[in-house]
Parts: sequence; structure tokens; C-alpha cells
Amino acid sequence: MIVLKSEREIQAMHESGKILAACHREIAKLIKPGVTTWEIEEFVEGFLKKHGAKPEQKGYKGYQYATCASINEEICHGYPRKTPLENGDIVTIDMVVNYNGALSDSAWTYKVGNVSKETERLLEVTEESLYRAIEVCVPGNRIGDIGHAIQSYVEGEGFSVVRDFIGHGIGNVIHESPEVPHYGLPHKGPRLKEGMVFTIEPMVNVGTYKSVRDPNGWTASTADGEYSAQYEHTIAITKDGALILTKQ
Ligand code: MF3
Ligand code: CO
Repeated sequence: MIVLKSEREIQAMHESGKILAACHREIAKLIKPGVTTWEIEEFVEGFLKKHGAKPEQKGYKGYQYATCASINEEICHGYPRKTPLENGDIVTIDMVVNYNGALSDSAWTYKVGNVSKETERLLEVTEESLYRAIEVCVPGNRIGDIGHAIQSYVEGEGFSVVRDFIGHGIGNVIHESPEVPHYGLPHKGPRLKEGMVFTIEPMVNVGTYKSVRDPNGWTASTADGEYSAQYEHTIAITKDGALILTKQ
């Protein structure tokens, strides 16, 4: 069942999303060669505390950290760690913020120093695919239109779309209905209705879309070791289209 949110609930999730967006803006300034994702993790914990918010991922299904920090070929759910980032790396920082019980979820891929031309294009295409998907989020369209917008664009650019992880409804808990695949067919799936709130979070790979799972049970990486990028927003469907709750 897809729970529709009231204007007040969406307002509360928007306040949560503004804190998350502000946190990402600060992370963007911190990322550089030599910095560790453990330092980013500690920064995020402090930032959220200062703003009266909580890291919802910490303790979720046994996950231990406020952030997921996925480097280079890691697709998602990387653990923050004490290895310094190096020039040419990319790192995706993903987090869920809880502010007075209202959740928001947003991931962003950052460049570390100077990256290759191909990596640059991977990031541009992945971010653009998210905004193309958001464009089709108007009442009356369907969930399949979202996946189709992402997949047709990304594959046309020569990259691939991860299948094993998808966007999701979000409310009192991180994951609820509907499922939001980043691939699929137009005019298929549930109809978008005013009051739906969900994430769109395309993970785009340079090579194969196939992933492998680390023995830690969480971290997913590309099967061929090529780079993967991700941009994620939490959005609400309004009568005028999508409202981005985590806009930076
Ligand atoms: N933020 C993730 C998402 O976009 C959810 C993370 S699951 C966790 O779906 F366990 F790592 F927190
Ligand atoms: Co997320």
C-alpha cells in the first residue's frame, strides 16, 4: 500500500531535507585528497546533532554508521573508513536524516581532486538522469516512466543502470512502498498521485550493471571493477509536479 502524505507531513520532511542538503553542501567543501570518509562520518554526526537532527541509518537493520561512503567501484553501502581519499577518486556519500520524526534521504557523488574525462562524464550523465526522471514526476504518469527516463538516457550515453538497488517510498521508516526502479517501461506500474513521497537514486556504472556483494553483507561493488556514481533526491508529488525535498 502506498501511503499518501498530507501537506503538513511533506512540510516536515522538507525541513528535514533542508538540513540534509545543507550537510551535503558542507561535505562538498571538505572532500579533497588526504581526507578520510571516517572524518566525513564524524563531521556528519556533529552537523546533525548541532541542527537537532539524527542519523537514521545508524542502527537501521544492523547498519552501524550515519553515512554510507562508497568509493570508485563501490556502488552503495560502503562503510566509512580511515583510508585517505586519493586524487582521481570519486566518493558517494549517502545519508538519511531524521528531524522531529520526519525523514529525508539523499546521496551525492563527489570528485576527489581531478578526475579523468570519462569519470567526469559518468558524474554528469548520472546527475542529469536524476533530473530527467524528476521531470516526469507529475500526477497521472506512472512509476515505469521514471525508470524509462533514466535507462533510455543513460544507456544512450553508453553507461549502464544498476538493477540490484532501487528508489523507494519513504515515510516514518526509510523504506516503504512504492518501489522505484531506475530501469523499465513507460506507461507501466503504479500511477503517481499527489502526496506520494519517494526517492529516486540512480546508480550508474561505466561498465556492466552487475554487482557483487562484499562479505560484510552490505557493500555492493561493480562486478567488473569499473567506477559507479549515484545521485539521490527525496521528492514529493504535488499537483504541479515534483517538489525536491533535499534540494541543495
Ligand atoms: N540511504 C539508502 C537509500 O538510499 C538507505 C541506506 S540503508 C542503510 O536507500 F542501512 F545503509 F542505512
Ligand atoms: Co540514500
